Order: sequence, then C-alpha cells, then structure tokens
Amino acid sequence: MANRAVLITGAAHRVGKAIALYLAEHKWDVGIHYKGSKQAAEHVAQQAREFGAQVKTYQADLLDPDQATRLIVDFTNDFANAPATDFGSSGSAIERELLLVNSASIYERDRLENLKVDDWHRHLDLNTLAPVLLTKEFTRDAQAKRCVINILDQKVTNLTPDYLSYTVSKYALYGITKMLAMELAPNCRINGIALGLVLRSGDQSEEQFQVEFTNTPLNKGPVVEEICKLISLIAQTRSMTGQIITIDGGRHMVRPVPPYDDFLDN
Ligand SMILES: NC(=O)c1ccc[n+]([C@@H]2O[C@H](COP(=O)([O-])OP(=O)(O)OC[C@H]3O[C@@H](n4cnc5c(N)ncnc54)[C@H](OP(=O)(O)O)[C@@H]3O)[C@@H](O)[C@H]2O)c1
Repeated sequence: MANRAVLITGAAHRVGKAIALYLAEHKWDVGIHYKGSKQAAEHVAQQAREFGAQVKTYQADLLDPDQATRLIVDFTNDFANAPATDFGSSGSAIERELLLVNSASIYERDRLENLKVDDWHRHLDLNTLAPVLLTKEFTRDAQAKRCVINILDQKVTNLTPDYLSYTVSKYALYGITKMLAMELAPNCRINGIALGLVLRSGDQSEEQFQVEFTNTPLNKGPVVEEICKLISLIAQTRSMTGQIITIDGGRHMVRPVPPYDDFLDN
C-alpha cells in the first residue's frame, strides 16, 4: 500500500486513463471512476495493478449529486486510512495523502443560435457542479490534508463564443478553483490545469486534428505525459493553491478572430 492515493474521475479512457496509469507507476494507489465504461475501467485497473498499485474502480453518474457524494465516501473509506504496519511503524492507522483529479467532462458543440437549455444544464451539472460537490465531500473533514486538481481548458483564458455551454462550465470552474482555494486553506489545496487540444475528439480525422495546431504558436498542443507530470508536480508543491497552469502550445495567446470558431470545419 502506498502512502498516497488518487481518485480520478472519467479514468476509463483518454486523459483520465493516462493520469491513472502514470500515477500508479509513480507509487500512488488509484481509484478509477467511470460512468458507462466498466470494461475499459477494469482494464485500466488491471494495468495499474501491474505497477504494484492498490486499485479500485467506482461507477457513478456524476449528473446525480447523490452518486457524486457516494463516490467520495466510498473512495475515502477505501483509501484514507492505512494500517500503520503498512509503513513499518506501530500504533493506530495513518492518515494518507489524498488527491482528487476532476477530469470527467462532456464537450459538445453549441453556440447562442442553437443553444438548448438541456445541453446548458448538462454541461454545468457535470463540468462544474459535480467537481464542486465532489470537492465538498472530499474536504468534509476540515483537519484532513487534501489536494484537488480541476482539469480546465485554455478557453478559460481566451474566451470565444463557440462551445458556449462547455466554455461557460469550464470558466465557472476556473473561478470556483480560485474561490475554493481561499475557502479550503490552510489544510486543503485546489488548483487547475488548463489544456489546449490534446486528443482528437468525435469523428475528427488526424489531418483535421493537425490543422488545429497551425494556429498555435508552438505548432503543437500538450501531450498526455506532460499533463501527468504536471499533476504530479502540483501534488508535491505544498505551497501552491488557487493556481491555474495553462499548457496549450501558446494557443491562449492567439487573438480570436471572427467567426471565433475554435474547432474548424476543415
Ligand atoms: N481531450 C482534449 O483534447 C482536451 C482539451 C482541453 C481540455 N480537456 C479536458 O480534459 C479532461 C479530459 O478530457 P478527455 O477528452 O479525456 O475526456 P472525455 O473522453 O471527453 O470524457 C472523459 C470521461 O467523462 C466521463 N463522463 C461523461 N459523462 C459522465 C457522467 N454523467 N458522469 C460521470 N462521468 C461521465 C466518461 O466516462 P465513461 O466513459 O465511463 O462513461 C468519459 O470517459 C476534460 O475535463 C476536458 O474538458 C481535454
């Protein structure tokens, strides 16, 4: 058993999966959350166990506040305390270092002209409210040291009107990260990582994906290993809270121009 454990939401695939496997390889025990991808989550868990990590999987639909709360209760019951003997000392159980990475998200295209109220609520409920509810339960014990990292998007530092509901949800989470850093200090820290385009989405071809980087100063976006290393760095930097780090190849510095469509139809 490691002396630290992480819960990653949406960890069956893509960015969340990469974070889970990287931290498992670097001596973290891991909670893998999924909503619908049970088989993929179990596969990630198996891969993580091969690094020697203690691993559990958790199913929850984070659009349901009760399921969000239960996820944290189950994770902390499983991982918050380790028998002191596991670390070679005697006495009562030892409180372990716990990290929550809020990565689960929906990312759907809309603009003002085709905005649907349901889509707005789903984005806000999953991308904003769920991380807040998870953080609330995760930091319920005011004495326990906890760390939270919210996965944001470079759009929060370079607003454009496309992906309206998604961008609003991440922009709100950007503000919440700073607000809760004040609220939760001194025992808990909360930070964010704002990502540029990392992985192809939907039915985007590789060619279309590469075109996205022609308008990016470094001609590339972040790779998943950089995201993982940054998560590890934030977890270890105990004087850091309320901070958002953007890794996006410099995309946030590109001045938006009409029609302000971040995801080009190539
Ligand atoms: N990918 C990029 O290029 C990029 C760029 C900028 C920012 N980001 C941010 O990075 C993070 C990860 O991105 P990603 O592309 O890896 O994510 P993703 O593949 O779009 O989604 C991750 C997971 O979210 C889970 N999810 C969806 N609805 C849910 C619900 N109602 N309850 C619980 N979980 C739900 C899904 O789990 P199941 O499969 O188990 O159903 C899914 O696998 C996101 O926060 C995203 O906004 C990504």
